Amino acid sequence: MNSTDISYAGHLAGLQCEAEAALARSGFDALLIASGVEKYAFLDDRPYLFQPNPHFKHWLPLTNHPCSWIVVRPGHKPRVVYYQPDDYWHVPPSDPSGEWVQHVELVVISEPGDAVDHLKLPGRLAIVGEADAALGEFKPNNPPELLNLLHWRRACKSGWELGQMRAASRRAAPGHIAARDAFLAGASEIEIHRAYLEATGHTDRDLPYSNIVALNEHCAVLHYQYQDTQRPAESRSFLIDAGAQVNGYASDITRTWSRGDDADFGALLAAMEQAQLALVDEVRNGVDYRDIHLSTHRRVAQILSTQGIVRNMSAEAIVTEGVSSTFFPHGIGHLLGLQVHDIGGFMATEEGGTLPKPAGHPFLRLTRPLQPGMVVTIEPGLYFIPTLLKKLRATPAGANVDWAKVEHLARFGGIRIEDDVACRAEGAPENLTRDAFAVLPG
Ligand code: GLY
Ligand code: MN
Ligand code: MN
Repeated sequence: MNSTDISYAGHLAGLQCEAEAALARSGFDALLIASGVEKYAFLDDRPYLFQPNPHFKHWLPLTNHPCSWIVVRPGHKPRVVYYQPDDYWHVPPSDPSGEWVQHVELVVISEPGDAVDHLKLPGRLAIVGEADAALGEFKPNNPPELLNLLHWRRACKSGWELGQMRAASRRAAPGHIAARDAFLAGASEIEIHRAYLEATGHTDRDLPYSNIVALNEHCAVLHYQYQDTQRPAESRSFLIDAGAQVNGYASDITRTWSRGDDADFGALLAAMEQAQLALVDEVRNGVDYRDIHLSTHRRVAQILSTQGIVRNMSAEAIVTEGVSSTFFPHGIGHLLGLQVHDIGGFMATEEGGTLPKPAGHPFLRLTRPLQPGMVVTIEPGLYFIPTLLKKLRATPAGANVDWAKVEHLARFGGIRIEDDVACRAEGAPENLTRDAFAVLPG
């Protein structure tokens, strides 16, 4: 993908070119992409939140459009079969509008089944979508030989996509500042969450993932899923992992804040901030992302040692004996884009295969060497997780831990700092997230 052309037209032309090449290589004549269908709760008439097929969003900036299709044929404009029901119970998709309209052959339908006439094509069809999107004879076959080629390329963003992702970080940044201010004012988790939504203009429905809004010990729960309605008696620390979306592209940002009145936690936070920035700088063309993950363990080990949390062990031993994994038990990050955990992170080549995770690191989500245009998260953490600490305490290495210090720091839960970072062809990476915070007023 060409990352210097920032136009949507350029993005679409690139997709067409890649799809034509992928069709030729995999022996298909045309590609049909189903946006997906709404699904309903068992024995109920309430739909789950619609999740569009990411392949559909890749072509069109449309996120709330079930039962629509894209038809890609070599040498033709993409055909968009746009479902717009006559529905007085809900707000149907608006009339097609936006720049994309002029670049496609548009067909508007009011019944899902009416798509059939516009999907009928000669030759072998690759049909990409969830099984539930099947329409008569048009059943998704998701051919791996074609999908591998598309997923491999999707990791590297076009100029237009990078623009959406910069905007997604800019949309989230004021939310993070509003959330921090609410924390400092003593707000409850739910109040902080509402402040975030207000400042980003998002509703819960259109967030790219459920916000993690955690106070005190809750900061130790990696994917803390609740929002307490009670204000805590003492609000010591605050971890927020919250993103935003623009035209279907996500940001994924974490900040950890304290009141600044505890020297030990303050020093730990400052050390993690410094480590995170150094790790961001490791995002370079050709670097094996697994090495950034292993570098994080060495840095966390150094911090555990410098802060006096683990004593009488070298930083190297802290890593090799698995002690750093007690405090940093997740991966350093993942591909980001149309999905928060974008697909294709383990591919060995464009034809498929798997690049293994480093032994002992089961939660890493990206093992590929970095290429220009890839957007990844860099999200080191250091947590005091009771269940993992209990296991460490039962091992010989547990004798080297200052448990009184751990008990004190556990009241703050933990720290995670997460930025969205684009790899460049040469030199230092672009930090979409820090850039977004830097242009905030005041
Ligand atoms: N927000 C989920 C993650 O950071 O991967
Ligand atoms: Mn993330
Ligand atoms: Mn996150």
